[in-house]
Amino acid sequence: MCGIVGVIGKKNATEILIQGLEKLEYRGYDSAGIYVTSNQQQNYLIKSQGRIADLQSKIGKDVEGSIGIGHTRWATHGEPSERNAHPHTSGNDRFVLVHNGVIENFEEIKQEYLQNKQLLGETDTEIVVYLIEYFAEQGLETKEAFKKALSIIEGSYAFALIDSENPEVIYVAKNKSPLLIGLGKDFNVICSDAMAMLQETNRFLEIVDGEMVIVKADEIKIEDEKGNAVYRESYEAQLDLNDIEKGTYPYYMLKEINDQPTVMRRIVKEYTKQNGSVVIEPEIVEKIKASDRVYIIACGTSYNAGWVGKALIEKMAQIPVEVHLSSEFGYNMPLLSKNPFFIFLSQSGETADSRQVLVQTNRLGYPSLTLTNVAGSTLSREADYTLLLLAGPEIAVASTKAYTAQIAVLAIVAKAIGDASGNEQSEKFDIAHELSVIASIMETIIDEKATIDQLVTEYLSDTRNAFYIGRGVDYYVSMEASLKLKEISYIQAEGFAAGELKHGTIALIEKGTPVFGVITDKKTAAHTRGNLKEVESRGAHNFVISLASLSKESDQLVLPDVHSLLTPLVSVVPTQLIAYFATLQRGYDVDKPRNLAKSVTVE
Ligand code: F6R
Repeated sequence: MCGIVGVIGKKNATEILIQGLEKLEYRGYDSAGIYVTSNQQQNYLIKSQGRIADLQSKIGKDVEGSIGIGHTRWATHGEPSERNAHPHTSGNDRFVLVHNGVIENFEEIKQEYLQNKQLLGETDTEIVVYLIEYFAEQGLETKEAFKKALSIIEGSYAFALIDSENPEVIYVAKNKSPLLIGLGKDFNVICSDAMAMLQETNRFLEIVDGEMVIVKADEIKIEDEKGNAVYRESYEAQLDLNDIEKGTYPYYMLKEINDQPTVMRRIVKEYTKQNGSVVIEPEIVEKIKASDRVYIIACGTSYNAGWVGKALIEKMAQIPVEVHLSSEFGYNMPLLSKNPFFIFLSQSGETADSRQVLVQTNRLGYPSLTLTNVAGSTLSREADYTLLLLAGPEIAVASTKAYTAQIAVLAIVAKAIGDASGNEQSEKFDIAHELSVIASIMETIIDEKATIDQLVTEYLSDTRNAFYIGRGVDYYVSMEASLKLKEISYIQAEGFAAGELKHGTIALIEKGTPVFGVITDKKTAAHTRGNLKEVESRGAHNFVISLASLSKESDQLVLPDVHSLLTPLVSVVPTQLIAYFATLQRGYDVDKPRNLAKSVTVE
């Protein structure tokens, strides 16, 4: 959700900024821009609507400098256009600013301070850069003018500011949006995500909300809100450059689908012992066990994984679980139980909707655990406990391996609580073995890519809509399968509880409407088949994904049997491939669907 980069003290600033922006493109890709300067005389501001490649094609060879900032945008205020692309400049072109976040009181600021200013675009960011100019015109030094502006603005932000009259400094500040400083020898860099600057350095410095950082080529000064100097140790990013490259895969999404067996094995290695017991911090287990209700809070794919988590925790740990959308829960909090425990699911660990709930539950003093793929992310830092998903960087906007990793780690948590409570079903559940079996089965399914590609041609080539149906966990997988299909192929897809279709939605079934039935649960298989018959007799083109033991000869995809508690880990894999091939066949960009961005840091 917007990506920021900056560099100071390296000759090839343009190249570093572009490379960094390419790595951050997952955060937004509707426009981009860079500002590069070598000294006061040679400044370059280049912006473009579209992707980083579009921006790159506008950059001439002469655009050289050792200092610069760059931005890739996911539009919030103002349409995606060159005019609204960052960096934004103040009226006299002195200040140049990039921003990730949302300024909530920008209208009020405009009214109060900038009535006489002729703004060029519609972004909230432009208001901020004009506000800095306003205070500089009142006689404040740049740092003070920036600080004054920060004291007035409300909302989320990560800013990087250059004063073109003294470009030997980049001023940086953050509140709620992520931002890191990367440390080099005689140079320093700035980035929204360490991934963007790994080519330059693997030592990073965290910035805390409310701090301002003065970044020079050979010096970094952190100040807290009161202006006191802050000392902080740097850390080494535990990221491998190979993990963030596509390698021989045409798309990150395919690479990430393929990564899933490895991720399952990694989770087994990290969270289980040779003797089959699970390894979860005892304090986490005790806290959850002591609660009378678990609230799972998440968005999108993580929310869908949360429903499977509910089934796992309720079955093994015997604790009631509610699953909530972060964006709803925060503003319409239900009546809570006496001793709630909160589990936040977030691949990125930065999702603003989830974070605003965590801020509230922290304020209320409730214990919390974050399951995330990103160590040190905001949700991880702010929750009491963290369990890492260990899925490796997920770069495709459509989440795949984080979903299965979330389910696997939730299963381990559920078993840890179940074992601690002496639950028989939990004690008998050899999760290390089951997940290892699943890893191999995932490989078998992924090997069937060509068949799935062909089936997609047959079922989805000219449809505008489709349904996934199932019951229980098959319904939860249907929700995820349809999200995957619609978000990248733009086929309008709905995931439906199979039995509910006949209460209204069945009216949408026409001749040829593809209906995917997911059947992995013995208890409900016959009923779901009945529902499939109902839609078939109204013209639906049925596609059944079933487990071998529940299959019929006519089923389109039959999956090997796995433990009944973990079926979503295998049934979701073909649906990820269905979405992938449907998108390829329609000629869309699999990794960067329109209107979306990974890591949604606005509410
Ligand atoms: C869909 C997808 C999104 C995310 C959602 C939450 O494929 O990726 O729906 O799941 O934006 O993101 P995290 O998990 O980072 O909080």
